[in-house]
Amino acid sequence: MRLVPSILSADFANLESEVHEVEQAGIDLIHIDVMDGHFVPNVTMGSNVVRALKKKTQVKMDVHLMVEEPGDLLPSFIEAGAEMISVHFEACRHLHRTIQIIKAAGVKAGVALNPATPVDFLKQILPDLDFVLLMTVNPGFGGQKFIRSSVEKISELRDLIDFRHLKTEIEVDGGINPETLPLCFKAGASLFVAGSAIFGSKDRESAVRALAASIN
Ligand code: DX5
Ligand code: ZN
Repeated sequence: MRLVPSILSADFANLESEVHEVEQAGIDLIHIDVMDGHFVPNVTMGSNVVRALKKKTQVKMDVHLMVEEPGDLLPSFIEAGAEMISVHFEACRHLHRTIQIIKAAGVKAGVALNPATPVDFLKQILPDLDFVLLMTVNPGFGGQKFIRSSVEKISELRDLIDFRHLKTEIEVDGGINPETLPLCFKAGASLFVAGSAIFGSKDRESAVRALAASIN
């Protein structure tokens, strides 16, 4: 299991020290929520933030593109040094081509699914994916409540992956805390994005420890 702090809930005026704090707590991957004000009703950050942070930290970057037709933006995030990139099934007309572009750049490729999008829609693309990001809240904001029916969806996807002997990882994103994380872990997720559960706490190290300990 791997914890992936989302800097969406960090202090944007102090991003460097925010990232260093979780890095000191043993984190080696952070989650970058990119929103365009169209696919979701919010605007956040672009590849310039990835590029700037790369100069200041060793942690790897997991970029979650919540943008309409992400194809045009991909090159800038690839050049900025993202190690993982996910695009939304609902926002991407030529999904197969987009995934191949990410993979050809040596970046791990993922597809993100909104809560109402069935995992069955991944049938054809699944073998091409390094990971699937299952949204466990509706995308757009940090600090929302975990949608309980997501647990069954994680299990369904786990079965699809195992049945085909694939190595695709399941990442969950939204409302992850010490109570919901174990439910997702048991259902078969291995990457856990957490924003407010980490950066909403004054003591980030103990927040990271509490999340890690929740599966024991
Ligand atoms: C929501 C984002 C999430 C968000 C999670 O659209 O994709 O990554 O930062 O925040 P929490 O953990 O607070 O639900
Ligand atoms: Zn996210």
